[in-house]
Amino acid sequence: MELEEFRRAAHAVIDRIVKYRQDLEARALPVQPRVEPGEIARALPLAAPEAPEGLPSILGDLDSLIFDGVMHWQHPRFFGYFPSGGGLASVLGDIISTGLGGVGLSWQSSPALTEVETVMMSWMRELLGLSSAWSGVIQDTASTATLVALLCARERTTGYSAAHGGLQGEAAPLVVYTTSEAHSSVLKAAALAGFGRDNVRTVETDELLAMRAEALDEHIRADRAAGRRPCAVVATVGTTNTTAIDPVQAIAEVAGRENVWLHVDAALGGAAMLAPEYRVLWQGVEQADSIVVNAHKWMSVALDCSLYYVRDPEHLVRVMSTNPSYLRTDVDTEVVNYRDWGIPLGRRFRALKLWLTLRTVGAEALRARIRRDCGNARWLADQVDAAAGWRRLAPVPLQTVCVLHEPSDRGGEALDRHTLDWCRRINASGFAYLTPSVLAGRWFVRVSVGTELTEREDVAALWAIMRTTAEECARA
Ligand SMILES: Cc1ncc(COP(=O)(O)O)c(C=O)c1O
Repeated sequence: MELEEFRRAAHAVIDRIVKYRQDLEARALPVQPRVEPGEIARALPLAAPEAPEGLPSILGDLDSLIFDGVMHWQHPRFFGYFPSGGGLASVLGDIISTGLGGVGLSWQSSPALTEVETVMMSWMRELLGLSSAWSGVIQDTASTATLVALLCARERTTGYSAAHGGLQGEAAPLVVYTTSEAHSSVLKAAALAGFGRDNVRTVETDELLAMRAEALDEHIRADRAAGRRPCAVVATVGTTNTTAIDPVQAIAEVAGRENVWLHVDAALGGAAMLAPEYRVLWQGVEQADSIVVNAHKWMSVALDCSLYYVRDPEHLVRVMSTNPSYLRTDVDTEVVNYRDWGIPLGRRFRALKLWLTLRTVGAEALRARIRRDCGNARWLADQVDAAAGWRRLAPVPLQTVCVLHEPSDRGGEALDRHTLDWCRRINASGFAYLTPSVLAGRWFVRVSVGTELTEREDVAALWAIMRTTAEECARA
């Protein structure tokens, strides 16, 4: 593409994005796209074009195929899954990163990429209230960060077995501890890191769905007595289903005593730590070995940007350092080479998304958003608590409210059908979007509050449609 053609097209694309965001602000789009499975694929040609197509026809396809074919995560009445960062400042950072077309392989391959990342991770460390004992690196996702944590834990426990026989040379199995409420990425990481599902213990939770530290202690002792080697515990600050908070302090005490690696998955909840009053929720975090906080969830930064902090980066380097001759430079002893702190070699300039966000928005606005969203979730929780026929299933420490509408004549599977019915009807209406989920074998509806545009009036409008829809379904 010629530069002038790029300039014209880029302006047109930005104009289209602005129009899209205006439509979202005006609440003028159905939150869930009206698309049937296979419909978009059928509208695309079966094979790639041999000859260039003009930009006008390509851009012409944007509306019908792309803008109308995606879930509108930034819609103010999107209450599904979790808040996903889509701040416009971070969009600019992403565009610049891609526009540079470079790759971070070593400090020398892109000095600003490395140094801005180091400074951003230090800014974020301060903003999250973490001490200077932590060093940070940006990973693509929390899933990768948790895999990296388990790889480092595995290597620390085995005296760096990867340099010799690997796990296959180990006499006793290594064990990972977490709860049934942990994100699925923990099980995936344990499988990928070679622990095996049989060696992942599901530690019992209390009535708030938080890990019981005494149960962790008992599991560790039982495993040691059976000749196994306790290796890592993953605690969650803000579980995906209900935002339950594992007691990090009590878990850290067990982990410290037993020399077990403690990884804190604060992918969602970590953003709340921007506001000092929420830091009590991860009290004890300073005693962990690693932490992940997704800037790309509730912090306005566009996917992908996971903040991964470790107490001792040497573990990362010992496990993941590669030093082929073509990557060596004269300054390697003076600089950080982030390829040694994660799995991929080539790195994007993700720090630009944080840099643009923090500079254009400022930390105070990010804190204000956390407080607004938690306040809105608490407001909804109060409405649910006060309404006949409705029940809240879990505490609301952050921004997610877990609800059930229970008509007096429904129980068991009939109640499940009712829950899925009213939730699907709201989603199909396009007015709002919610995700149903399962807790203790029963379906319920998660209301995840907190897109950038979601205000109290949106939560109130959601609550109104929840009541009318659920009651209509109950009568049907
Ligand atoms: C607690 C928790 N951990 C991990 C993840 C996975 O995040 P990612 O998509 O960045 O891998 C999620 C995403 O929902 C989450 O809620």
